[in-house]
Amino acid sequence: MRVGVIIPAAGQSRRFGDLDKLAQDLGGRAVLLRTVELFTKRDDVVAIVIAGPPDDLENFKTRYGPALSFHGAKIVAGGRVDRWESVRNALAALPDDLTHIAIHDAARPCASVDLLARVFDAAKVASAVIPGVTVTSTLKRVSETTVSAAEDDAVASAILGDFGMQATRGRAVTATIDRENLVLAQTPQIFDAALLRRAYASANLAGTTDDASVVEQLGETVVVVEGDSRNLKITTQDDLALARAIMGIKSSSSSQSSSYRFE
Ligand code: CTP
Ligand code: MG
Repeated sequence: MRVGVIIPAAGQSRRFGDLDKLAQDLGGRAVLLRTVELFTKRDDVVAIVIAGPPDDLENFKTRYGPALSFHGAKIVAGGRVDRWESVRNALAALPDDLTHIAIHDAARPCASVDLLARVFDAAKVASAVIPGVTVTSTLKRVSETTVSAAEDDAVASAILGDFGMQATRGRAVTATIDRENLVLAQTPQIFDAALLRRAYASANLAGTTDDASVVEQLGETVVVVEGDSRNLKITTQDDLALARAIMGIKSSSSSQSSSYRFE
C-alpha cells in the first residue's frame, strides 16, 4: 500500500471556547502534532497533507511548519466553513501515485496503533473502510426548542419562583430511535485512492460531515470495522481533559490555558 493521509485542521474550535483546540498541549506537544505523529510511524504512509485555517494560514505555517516539514508533511488552505472543502483542497495536493487515501480528524489524537492497523489492514480487501463504535445509550430525538417541564406554569412559578422555573425547562422527546445496527462513525477513514477522488469529483458535497458519506453517494459499499471509544474527537474542554487521561498525561501539563507554544 502507498497511503496518502489528509488531516483536516481548518476548523474554528467554536465549541471549545476562545482557544484553538488543536494548539492545546498534550504532554509537551500540540494536539495537531500528536495527531500527525500517529501516521508518521507507519511505513505505508508516503504523504501527509494538512488542511489549515484559510484566514490564518501564515500564522499556522509559522507555528507548525518546522515540525510538519520535519515529517515531510505539507500544509494547504482548508475550507472556511465546511470540513469537506478542507478535504477536497488537500486531495488536490496529494501525489498521483497513491493506492489509498486515509482521512483523519486533527482533533482525534488518541487513535491507537491497533486501531490504525485494523482499519488499514481492512483496506487491503475493501475499497472503503471506516471505524465505528456501537451505540450503547438509548437514543431520543427531541424538540428543537425548549418547553416548560411543569404541567401548570402558574402553580410551578408560585412554588419554584423564576429561577426554579428556568431549571424546569427542557426539550420534549419526539421519538425514541431504535439503536440496533447503529454505530458512531470515527476516523481514520480509508479509501481506494481512485474511488475517493471520483467521489469528491462527482458527489453532492453539501451537508456531508464525513468522507464515507461522499463515497456512499456513488453506491459503493463502505465497510465498518471495530472502532475504539477512546478515539474521541476533542470538541469541548472536557474532551481535552479526557484525552489527557486516555494518553496517560499527568495533570502538571493539563492546566486549561497551557496552550502549546512554539518558541
Ligand atoms: N475541519 C476542517 N475544516 C473545516 C471545519 C472543520 O478541516 N472547515 C476539521 C477540524 O479542524 C477538525 C475536524 O475537521 O479536526 C472535525 O471538526 P470539528 O471537531 O467540528 O472541529 P471544529 O470545526 O474546529 O470545531 P467546532 O465545530 O466546535 O467549531
Ligand atoms: Mg466543526
